[in-house]
Amino acid sequence: MTKRNILLPILIFFLSLNGLRAGEGMWLPQLLQALNEGDMQTMGMKLTAEQIYSVNQGSLKDAIVHFGGFCTAEVISKEGLILTNHHCGFSAIQEHTTLEDNYLRDGFWATDKKDEKMNPDLFAKFIVRIDDVTDMILKGVKSKMTKEERQSVIDKNIQAAQKAANKESYQDVEIKPFFKGNQYFQFISVSYPDVRLVGAPPSSIGKFGADTDNWEWPRHTGDFSLFRIYSDANGLPAQPNAKNIPLKPKHSLPISLDGVEEGDFSMVFGFPGRTNEYLSASAVEQIMTVTDPARIAIRDKSLKIIDGYMRADEAIKIKYASKFASTANGWKKWIGEVQGLEKTNALGKKRAYEAEFNKRLKTSKKKFPKEYKTLISELDNVYAEMAPYALAANYQSEVTSRNVELLRVAGLMKRLTDAFDNNGAAGFNGFKGRLTGYLEGFYKDYSPMVDQDVFAALMEMYVTNLDAKYVSETVRKATMPHDNDYSKWAASMYKSTKFTDKAAVEKIFSMKPEAAVAAIKEDPAYQLIIDMQSHYNSVVAPTYDKLQTRVEDLMRVYMQAQMDVYTDKKFFPDANSTMRVTYGKIEGYEPRDAVIYKNKTYLDGMVAKYVPGDYEFDLPKKLLELEANKDYGVYSETVNGEQKVPVCFLGSNHTTGGNSGSPAIDASGNLIGLNFDRVWEGTMSDINYDRRICRNIMVDARYILFIIDKYAGAGSLIEEMELVHPKKGK
Ligand code: ARG
Ligand code: ASP
Repeated sequence: MTKRNILLPILIFFLSLNGLRAGEGMWLPQLLQALNEGDMQTMGMKLTAEQIYSVNQGSLKDAIVHFGGFCTAEVISKEGLILTNHHCGFSAIQEHTTLEDNYLRDGFWATDKKDEKMNPDLFAKFIVRIDDVTDMILKGVKSKMTKEERQSVIDKNIQAAQKAANKESYQDVEIKPFFKGNQYFQFISVSYPDVRLVGAPPSSIGKFGADTDNWEWPRHTGDFSLFRIYSDANGLPAQPNAKNIPLKPKHSLPISLDGVEEGDFSMVFGFPGRTNEYLSASAVEQIMTVTDPARIAIRDKSLKIIDGYMRADEAIKIKYASKFASTANGWKKWIGEVQGLEKTNALGKKRAYEAEFNKRLKTSKKKFPKEYKTLISELDNVYAEMAPYALAANYQSEVTSRNVELLRVAGLMKRLTDAFDNNGAAGFNGFKGRLTGYLEGFYKDYSPMVDQDVFAALMEMYVTNLDAKYVSETVRKATMPHDNDYSKWAASMYKSTKFTDKAAVEKIFSMKPEAAVAAIKEDPAYQLIIDMQSHYNSVVAPTYDKLQTRVEDLMRVYMQAQMDVYTDKKFFPDANSTMRVTYGKIEGYEPRDAVIYKNKTYLDGMVAKYVPGDYEFDLPKKLLELEANKDYGVYSETVNGEQKVPVCFLGSNHTTGGNSGSPAIDASGNLIGLNFDRVWEGTMSDINYDRRICRNIMVDARYILFIIDKYAGAGSLIEEMELVHPKKGK
């Protein structure tokens, strides 16, 4: 072979690892300088890493907010105004919604600060500083230690490090593992608990296309809402209080009016929740063939039932809107995920990667730890053994804690009686206090009629689809007195349980602890959950937990091994709800043979989808008028000589759940859009990112401004913002 011939395969391998995957990665902001700055600037970024993340001066990171711990938001005015998704603010909007003041349906706009609405459950968290504390946390950890020994050393070190952390009294410290526990980082943060609702478009805009369009392109959803952070008079965090003042932020993002074009640099900054990019092939196979299909099938059933009721009854629609959306969101994503994993041959690629890993171990001159050699085969074995337990575990959690609401409440009642059994009246009263608040919200959005049907359908699946040994005898025989009919069992259960009725539960709660506990223990739903849980805890959990622990141990070593062996690859840690930066370009893609998706949608395309009165595709009259009169303000762009209002656009930024509400930022640090979703073909990006078809979906900033200004007439909010023309040099 000539030198060229030898180099070529190596080059191709490098390209497949790095070049092709350039859009991949969720990078830690404090490491951008070392790892990504050059790459980002080559792609067109005009900022330095220091302008994105700095400890000493205001930087982009100071405008990025962890919103309630589940979404991202960003500061867009000097008065603490923040922007996030409609679906992130959804529960808050729903909380303030009644049949009379229907903010979900009609939208809500506070053009005067005194009309903004408080949300005691929300908080806005800023990251002050991120430090590598690996050496401190792993001090005293030896490779021979058992998992428990290792964890106990680490826990002690974390406690000590947290105590020693250099921070102000109003700041928080959190230390989290990265790269499967091979590295640790410390986050100093500050959380503001007074976050008020400022604005939300009607759901027909904020949720346009609802579940049919969810996870799909072309998209026309105006998925945004506005909140405001309040602080005490000194700018420090304070509990919700009318005396608080709007936060004066360290940084707020200017908003670009210049729009985006194919190839423009883009960056998404936020708090991605969870990814699994380094799994073994056997783990991916289990997701594709066992766990995803089980979860999909269960939710398929329950969603169909709820959907039927929601379409027929406006009150049920309001009650179930939020729950339905979140259950449907996971369900649809997993369907796309399995398809995407198949289509991109994720399994084949993982196997090839593992074969190459094993080959490098054999042929390398470097000496690697002996245990590396058996990693892949051990992972294969553990996953094979785990499969039936994983199936049972997914059924258990989907049925008892997610989809059947009665069983969820019964589970909470069980915790209440446990509190009594363990800590007497004090324990009981303590937990009862917490439960009362939760149940208040629960019953507001609960329909026993809907839930009863879900119960019947899901209990039947549970008994039919699980191996008999994972289902208790009581449950297997439960329908016998009811003509073997699950609906009849459900009817009898829902007739006799007290837990479906708020007043009945309040009555129990008003009794003395002993009497209340006795009444709860008599309830048939209580007895059912006890039976299901104890069977699970004796037959499934012990083995399942043991195998999962084994996987965690193996993955910690495998993660380090991958970094030791693939020295030509740049690694980023899996998402874990910590602050990350991802970057790519504005670009369309080819979803399938001969089909090309452009990168942007427009308002006329939204109107083309309009179905009057429809539950997903209705549109407000005012918006239709604005479109008919071409009353666009400064928020349109010229397309083939015509004015059009852009709605959504696509980019190759690697995002996941939790990135919703994240700002899309241009080459100079201005807001160009609001991240809210990914495309159908690319929903497997949490497991197998593929640059060719993985795209994130953003609402165009100009559409957001158009809705606030022209649709809602909330010009005072626009006045707070800084609108810029970076492409025109202004
Ligand atoms: N798929 C997006 C995400 O995972 C949007 C979800 C909200 N929309 C919905 N129709 N459920 O959060
Ligand atoms: N829609 C997701 C979110 O809520 C984002 C995604 O999964 O792409 O965070």
